[in-house]
Amino acid sequence: MASTSARPFMLLALCVLLQAFISAQSSGSPFNVIGRVYCDTCRCGFETPATNYIEGAKVRIECRDRKSLQVVYSNEGVTDSTGTYNISVENDHQDEICESVLVSSPVADCKSADPGRSRATLVLTRYNGVINENLSANAMGFLKDQPLAGCTELLQQYAPDT
Ligand SMILES: *[C@@H]1O[C@H](CO)[C@@H](O)[C@H](O)[C@H]1NC(C)=O
Ligand SMILES: *[C@@H]1O[C@H](CO)[C@@H](O)[C@H](O)[C@H]1NC(C)=O
Repeated sequence: MASTSARPFMLLALCVLLQAFISAQSSGSPFNVIGRVYCDTCRCGFETPATNYIEGAKVRIECRDRKSLQVVYSNEGVTDSTGTYNISVENDHQDEICESVLVSSPVADCKSADPGRSRATLVLTRYNGVINENLSANAMGFLKDQPLAGCTELLQQYAPDT
């Protein structure tokens, strides 16, 4: 009798322990959010063989509370010579909506963020079983003011000729 009534408590204790273990683990090593920033030289909304990657672009990671939508965490980074950023994010963000957001581009004629490619959704929690600290985000892009000559030919490769 005593052992059966103790069982729920044991289960609860186990859960608490496990949760403490997981949160200790997640606060221990930050996530590295890895992604690339490009200049859409053909202004077509996606990466093409003519796409350049931008060095020195600023990117911000933002996490918002699901209910209030207030920003509760943010951190910034800059892309390297391959257009890649690596921004570390501390703690777990299970109850938040996190995104990578374009901030600015140093390229004079490629400064306007493509509205369709200016944010990338991130899942920054280890409660879903993810243990890899490297998290890759979808690439984001700025639009070149004038499309390069040669883009029409290039884009024809994507259009099935009927
Ligand atoms: C990102 O930066 C962190 C901290 O500087 C480093 O430990 C990690 O290896 C980097 N990840 C990549 C993929 O470069
Ligand atoms: C994260 O990336 C770094 C640098 O590329 C690498 O050394 C490390 O092994 C990666 N971690 C995992 C868990 O894949």
